[in-house]
Amino acid sequence: MITGHHIPVLLNESLDYLITNRAGIYFEGTLGFGGHSLEILKRLNEEGILISTDVDGNAFKYCKEKFKNEKRIKLYNFNFSVIDVIAKIESVEFFDGVFADLGVSSFQLDNVSSGFTYSADAPLDFRMDKSLGVKAYDIINDFTETEIANIIYEYGEERKSRKIARQIVKERDLKPINTTGELKRIINEVTPVRFQIKTLSRVFQALRIYVNDELNKLKEFLRNSVDVLNKGGRIVIISYHSLEDRIVKEFFKYEETDCICPKDSPVCVCEKEQRLKILTKKPVLPSDKEISTNRRARSAKLRAAERV
Ligand SMILES: C[S@@+](CC[C@H](N)C(=O)[O-])C[C@H]1O[C@@H](n2cnc3c(N)ncnc32)[C@H](O)[C@@H]1O
Repeated sequence: MITGHHIPVLLNESLDYLITNRAGIYFEGTLGFGGHSLEILKRLNEEGILISTDVDGNAFKYCKEKFKNEKRIKLYNFNFSVIDVIAKIESVEFFDGVFADLGVSSFQLDNVSSGFTYSADAPLDFRMDKSLGVKAYDIINDFTETEIANIIYEYGEERKSRKIARQIVKERDLKPINTTGELKRIINEVTPVRFQIKTLSRVFQALRIYVNDELNKLKEFLRNSVDVLNKGGRIVIISYHSLEDRIVKEFFKYEETDCICPKDSPVCVCEKEQRLKILTKKPVLPSDKEISTNRRARSAKLRAAERV
């Protein structure tokens, strides 16, 4: 059962960008506790429709109950990358706005049974979708030392990835590494105390991203979203780390340009079409006030663009 509390991040800022038509059809890819979805519904009129999905079965169940009396929302337990498929199922040609608040919810982070927590001793899992094949346990106990180091380096941007991978392999040769607590102890053994918190969060982030294939799913979601976005409709994304933010920023830039020919090409031959206009030249950040009441907001960056 879901307990706890999740405060939606950059709530007014994201909705001010997202909603352009109170009677429109909207999509949220990251339902979670339904915080943003609830506010979207409040801003829509009786004709407005919201389709929201979450890959996490617990979040889906929680919101089924939360929105049981709300006729204007349709809920899915799908990956947001298949927004185009959901649109087909719902016979929606175009959405008026698409929103995602990436990453994990407070419930997933704080709750031991969800297998994400860093503070308690939980089984090494990290799957948002429990039907996925590879858990963090499999990476830590079965992947080669080089594979582990590469995952930690690529998805955690952790410079001491090789040293950490070496220690993991040394320890697992003695006995399997079963829990987040055991992994934490092993990482701390080779990390100076002053770097431990940052290093732990980088390694856990890397495992989570790999297990859930988060970066590829985000790329697919962005591509598919623009295909089903109405002219004048908005796409609004909140990201929580540089790897995600870079993907969103570069995707928006690519979709804003109408030519990808080499710089020295005398004429344009690429036939590239501009599909988006960027609305946030710089990302929108939470205020100090928001950060002081919601720690999760501290790394949030919001980017928005409009379909042209
Ligand atoms: C930060 S929380 C969203 C919180 C929500 N906006 C609220 O205010 O309650 C992110 C949610 O997105 C979900 N999620 C992450 N990646 C996903 C994906 N590729 N497809 C669908 N859901 C995803 C997670 O399971 C998590 O519940």
